[in-house]
Amino acid sequence: MGRQSALLLLGWLALMVRPGLSSYLTGSGFPWEGCKLSASVNRWTVTLASYSEDVVRGSRACFNFGYKPLSQCTPSGLRCCGENHLNKFKLYIDPVCNRADMFNITVNGNPTSAAFKEFMGGDLSKPTLKITNMFIPFEQINTTQLCFSLKGTANNGTCSTLASLANPFTREQGVLEIGMYDKKVDNYECCPMFIFPLSVA
Ligand SMILES: *[C@@H]1O[C@H](CO)[C@@H](O)[C@H](O)[C@H]1NC(C)=O
Ligand SMILES: *[C@@H]1O[C@H](CO)[C@@H](O)[C@H](O)[C@H]1NC(C)=O
Ligand SMILES: *[C@@H]1O[C@H](CO)[C@@H](O)[C@H](O)[C@H]1NC(C)=O
Repeated sequence: MGRQSALLLLGWLALMVRPGLSSYLTGSGFPWEGCKLSASVNRWTVTLASYSEDVVRGSRACFNFGYKPLSQCTPSGLRCCGENHLNKFKLYIDPVCNRADMFNITVNGNPTSAAFKEFMGGDLSKPTLKITNMFIPFEQINTTQLCFSLKGTANNGTCSTLASLANPFTREQGVLEIGMYDKKVDNYECCPMFIFPLSVA
């Protein structure tokens, strides 16, 4: 098993032994909105499929999406999130990172520029970066890969690695925190939370 996979496995183990928490996962409070983030209603999975890190020349990360079995969803009056389409990928970022630090964003190889830095509620302590308008239908979620590059310091990139992109609050815990979203049904969005272990270069 490679170092990357070992770290991933550790991340998933951490997820499994802390089932009741979410932003609860880190205690950050991310994403600070009324979407449904509980693991019990979620059917999505996401893994870091590849990551090449280069502080100077820039890094590239690719994430693969998939499903958990329906049996792992306990809707409790809500819907099983993930059976709608997948629309957004939102990261809890360091406030010093800019939209321009991320480039060459691709969904199954197709470029998209629909990404935005956003301070939730205008609060400077709640910086996020969202890749949106993906509209991946349920049937295609498990064959979809999302990739993005981070500008290296040689190109004046401020946040050239996943570790520098992560908000200091979660970086201290050794993780990058993200949420995945559908679009509103019954007046709410789903936004299950995930964490990815950061390798310390
Ligand atoms: C985007 O990244 C892919 C994979 O590394 C690469 O093949 C492609 O040339 C890049 N495109 C741009 C515009 O940088
Ligand atoms: C993706 O999920 C669908 C069910 O929605 C299934 O039929 C298909 O075999 C899966 N494909 C892969 C590559 O896992
Ligand atoms: C980086 O920033 C410096 C100072 O603003 C500028 O002189 C230089 O041209 C920039 N380099 C690139 C690759 O954008």
